[in-house]
Amino acid sequence: MAKKTTTGIAATDATSFWDSTWQKTFKPMVIDQTAFRNMTPHIDRYFAAIGDVQGKEVLDLGCGNGKISVYLARAGATVTAIDLSPISVQNTKLLAEYNQVGARVSTVVLDSLDVRTLHKHFDLVIGKDILHHIEPFDAFVDALYDVLKPGGRGLFIENSARNPILMFFRRHLVGRFGIPKYGDDAEYPLEPREIALLRRKFPRTTQYYPEFKFFIMMAIYLFHGNKTVSRIAQSLDEAIYRYLPFFNKYSYRQIVEVQR
Ligand SMILES: C[S@@+](CC[C@H](N)C(=O)[O-])C[C@H]1O[C@@H](n2cnc3c(N)ncnc32)[C@H](O)[C@@H]1O
Repeated sequence: MAKKTTTGIAATDATSFWDSTWQKTFKPMVIDQTAFRNMTPHIDRYFAAIGDVQGKEVLDLGCGNGKISVYLARAGATVTAIDLSPISVQNTKLLAEYNQVGARVSTVVLDSLDVRTLHKHFDLVIGKDILHHIEPFDAFVDALYDVLKPGGRGLFIENSARNPILMFFRRHLVGRFGIPKYGDDAEYPLEPREIALLRRKFPRTTQYYPEFKFFIMMAIYLFHGNKTVSRIAQSLDEAIYRYLPFFNKYSYRQIVEVQR
């Protein structure tokens, strides 16, 4: 089911948005064990948290072009990759075959709400930029719990709706006055109430903030990513991260870990 925007406009066609995005951006390529190395502190921390996946059963929610699924399969996991977008699932299958791990990546066009229908249990459920698409979120949390093995973990790289300034901005300016809108019409950043729902089912829920992302978002939106402005914004974000860590929880990006 599509998530409603805060304006109450339900996005009718998120799937065709993602189909057309993945149609344009797919390239067969070798995904080796350096593929995600030294990219950003978030990515570094995410893969450190994922750890050794040799022999593990992994579910990738909203697999996109399949890079993470293929990376983990090449690291020894057996991966189930799902996405609502048929093009995403087709690309993931092609990428797995290109990297000779087709036998270790099964791909399914499936809503994350319906993961129980896979009739499998997982050591690890992962997802990058997916949780905030899923609605109703409480139903998803129950489904996630059911497909995790006891002791299994969910690890998600996510955005965050916790910063009121960024949310004001998103609500009133993005998509207007020439300020670009990224993503589909239905999505809204992961809300504190959704974290609370996770925490209710998974008392061992942790949020990590390996970077502070605030000024850089302003630079992207207001100054179209102008290089000089972005450099200044990046320095401000780094200074806050280092000297005012209290504010890190207001970062636009986070890692969410749950343990069953
Ligand atoms: C922002 S993209 C992220 C893709 C990929 N994880 C990555 O980081 O490149 C979100 C993806 O989630 C998919 N998606 C959205 N809602 C979904 C849902 N309820 N269940 C499964 N996939 C969904 C979209 O089709 C899209 O491919």
